[in-house]
Parts: sequence; C-alpha cells; structure tokens
Amino acid sequence: MTNLIATSFTAVDLDALAGFEGRVAVVVASDGKLDAGARRINRLSKGALARLVEAGKLEDAKAGKVITLNFPAGMAAEAVDVLVLDRRPSALDARKAGAAFGKILSAGNALLIAGSNTKTAQIVLGAAMRAYEFNPHKTASDDKSRSLSVMCAKPEEVVADAKPLLAIAEGAHMTRDLVNEPANVLTTTEFADRLKEMESLGLNVEVLEEAELEKLGMGTLLCVGQGSDSPSKVVVMQWNGGEKDAKPLALVGKGVVFDTGGISLKPAGGMEDMTMDMGGAGVVSGVMRSLALRGAKANVVGLVGLVENMPSGNAVRPGDVVTSMKGDTVEVINTDAEGRLVLCDVMWYAQERFEPAGMIDLATLTGAIIIGLGHENAGVFSNNDDLCNAFLKAAESEGEGAWRMPLGQAYDDMLKSRIADMKNIGGRPAGSVTAAQFLQRFVKDETPWVHLDIAGVASLKSESTLAPTGATGWGVMALNRLVSDMFET
Ligand code: BES
Ligand code: MN
Ligand code: ZN
Repeated sequence: MTNLIATSFTAVDLDALAGFEGRVAVVVASDGKLDAGARRINRLSKGALARLVEAGKLEDAKAGKVITLNFPAGMAAEAVDVLVLDRRPSALDARKAGAAFGKILSAGNALLIAGSNTKTAQIVLGAAMRAYEFNPHKTASDDKSRSLSVMCAKPEEVVADAKPLLAIAEGAHMTRDLVNEPANVLTTTEFADRLKEMESLGLNVEVLEEAELEKLGMGTLLCVGQGSDSPSKVVVMQWNGGEKDAKPLALVGKGVVFDTGGISLKPAGGMEDMTMDMGGAGVVSGVMRSLALRGAKANVVGLVGLVENMPSGNAVRPGDVVTSMKGDTVEVINTDAEGRLVLCDVMWYAQERFEPAGMIDLATLTGAIIIGLGHENAGVFSNNDDLCNAFLKAAESEGEGAWRMPLGQAYDDMLKSRIADMKNIGGRPAGSVTAAQFLQRFVKDETPWVHLDIAGVASLKSESTLAPTGATGWGVMALNRLVSDMFET
C-alpha cells in the first residue's frame, strides 16, 4: 500500500525558516500583501518576494502554478516555491495550489508555510493527492521517503480539518494502487486478501467463494470467470457507523482484474490497459477505506465482484445461455461484454440481502463512454432524480467530472434475445446506454440507483491536477461527499 505523505502541523516558527533544508513552499496572498511568514522569507531572500509582487508575477501563478526560486541566497533551503492563493480561496483552488507543490516534492522533509489561509487543510489534501507515486515494481527506488511540515496560524484547527481529508486521500491512494497494479500481482485472491486486511479498520469484510456463489445462483458472474485459473469471488465490506437500523447505501464495483475479452478476444494493441478493468471495485474499496478511517456516521456496504475474463477450453462461449441470480436468462453474444454480467448478480445480491436505501454501481463498463464523453466526465445513469442530482452535485463540488446520460424503453428493446430473456449486448449504437439498460433490468423499482461508467476517467495517459499519469482515484472524493451530504446527519 502506497503510504500517504507524512504530515505534521505546527505554529509558524519564523526563526526556523533560515536554516530549513529542503523545499519551502510559502503561500502568498493573491493581493500581494505579505504575512509574517512571507515577510521573513522575503527578508532572508533579500527582497525576492517583494520583487515578484512588484513585477506583477503573482497573476501568472494564480491558477495552481508555483513560482520557484532555486537555492535562494540567505537560506539553507533547496528552493522556495511560491504558491499564490486568495486569502479565502475555494476548496478546489486550494487543492490545486497544494497539488502544484505536491508534484515537485523531493526526498526528505518539505515545509509549507500556510499562515492563516482559511483552506490550509485543503492545500495539504491537494499536496498529498498529487504526491502519490506508484513504484513498488521499480527496483531502483532508493528509499526516498518524503514528509511535509505545515506551519500555520491555528495548528489544532487545521489538524482537525485535515484529518478527514487525509482519510479521503488515503482511500484514493488505495484505489490508485489497486488500479495501477498489474494483473499477475493483483489476482482475484490478492485483491480479496487486501480487502480482508481492512477489517483492522473496523470494517466487516466477508469473502464469498465460488461454491457459495454457485449456491446463490450467480450464473452470470461465474460464467465470466470460468475460463480463468483465478477463482471468482464476491467481497462484501460493511461499515456500520450510522443508526442501528438505518438502511445502508450500497456501492457495487466491477472488479475484472484483467479483461482479455474472453473468446471474443480483444485486439493485442492496448490490451495491457485492461489491468484497470477492476477500477469500479477499486473505487468502492477506496471509499470504504476512507469512510472507516474518518469514522463516518453512516451505514454503507461495499460489494465487489472479482473475476478474470480469460479465453480457455472452459471459457464461456458466444451463444451460451446463462442464468442470473435473479432468475433471468442471458444469451452471451459477446464475451467481451462481461462487466454487466458480473455486476447484475452482485447488484441483485446487494438488494436481496441489504434492501439498500440507494445503490450506486461503478464500472469501467464500455469503450463507448470514452467516445461519448472522453476522459473529462464519467457517464451517469439513474432511475432516481434525487439520488442522481445529489451525486452530480457532490461530484461537481469535488471537481470530479460527471455527466448524466439517458435511459429509456427503446434502448431496453435493443437487448431482446430470440432464445433467452435478454442478450448481453445491444449493438454498436448507444453502447453505453444499452449497457446501463442491461443493468437496470436487475434494479428493483423501489431501489434508487445510479450507474457510473468510469471507463474514461479511472486511469489516464497523462497527469491530471491531483494525480500523476495512471490511476486517478476518480469518484472517491465524490462518493465520500455524497455519503456525508445524504447519509450522515
Ligand atoms: N472493459 C471494457 C470496457 C473498457 C474499454 C474499459 C476501454 C476501459 C477502457 C468492457 O468490458 C468491454 O470490453 N466493453 C465492450 C462492450 C462491447 C463488446 C459491447 C466495448 O466497450 O467494446
Ligand atoms: Mn470486456
Ligand atoms: Zn471489461
């Protein structure tokens, strides 16, 4: 597990600034008025900050960019990084500024002089999120552990603000680790083991093995994994921090640890990216971790379906008919449309067992959603405007892109099968909608439900504001916010 950067919070100690080695970030108010910490840095650096202000350079740095003064004379520091930020910035701007510093942290301890900025904890969240690195498979990773000392006006208050935020960052780190991990390491068994470890955080974690899944009748989930040597599993994680008999929110994740497409084999080019096809399960796991770490006062159950989609002599074939836990039969036209087969059984199980107050599933479900929305927004589908709007609002306030897509009878009709209750694909048009429509057949009318197609946002080929290239952890912040907005009183 990639550790969060260690952070500590103290009052501003002006006399410690000259001798500090390592990088020093100083938050400078966008109006150019220097506070005590900035004035001291200015004096030590023989007026460098004042000259930046006079030269009108603060404007350039407002959008989350840093101005770096390397090896400033008069200081032991490796560099002074100027973060320009309003005195009362928005949470997202504060994160952005913090992220700019998190990106350039070097080995050892760094110092952040935040003064009395009202969003200091958010600056720290941004730094922690962006400082993430995935390097367990780099042999040369000489232990360059990093830490961050934060000097601020009211350290006790900032610590209290930062605690739940760092819980979120830690959850997002877990999601990213899971998504970045190659499939020979993150097998279904390894995935389940890592989730089982979260019992130490106070979560109740059950691992349902193949024999139990068979007893439950999860024929659609099991058919996906039957060609793999890795056993299929469903993991149920319960966090009961709310009222004793309040119905939980259910989070359901697609956990295809590798998607070759099965007998409907994918082309070779880019297939290696399908290590991220467990991204939905990764987000569910990360959210559960965050909720436990911050002691959320809500009941939330996370369920993930862990399978590997491989071709083999035992693999499910195109044309096979399988029976879901619900009892509906599915004609498997394309074995590469496997995510919906996994989710429908887990979603049905979630509703039968928990009668959830709401259900949100997450899946790297379709390539078509990338065609529709690119990498900016996840696709959002829902049968319930209240839950859907609450999610969209949470996502917006956390800066995670999400865009609602339609559902409707005409799309559902595209799933008609000649010989079974439905087919597993609806053809090329509206591929993301027919996938969602397939899932909706396994949602009870009384269950408020949101489906998030995260194929375009779970992992990126270039860095983003809060993440280096690779897994983003998209959704951990939004879902955590939704839980606190809707389920914690
Ligand atoms: N895991 C893929 C979807 C995917 C594509 C995720 C690209 C991330 C990036 C999914 O299982 C899949 O293969 N979907 C097919 C569905 C089709 C066969 C109806 C697709 O999108 O091509
Ligand atoms: Mn597939
Ligand atoms: Zn897939």
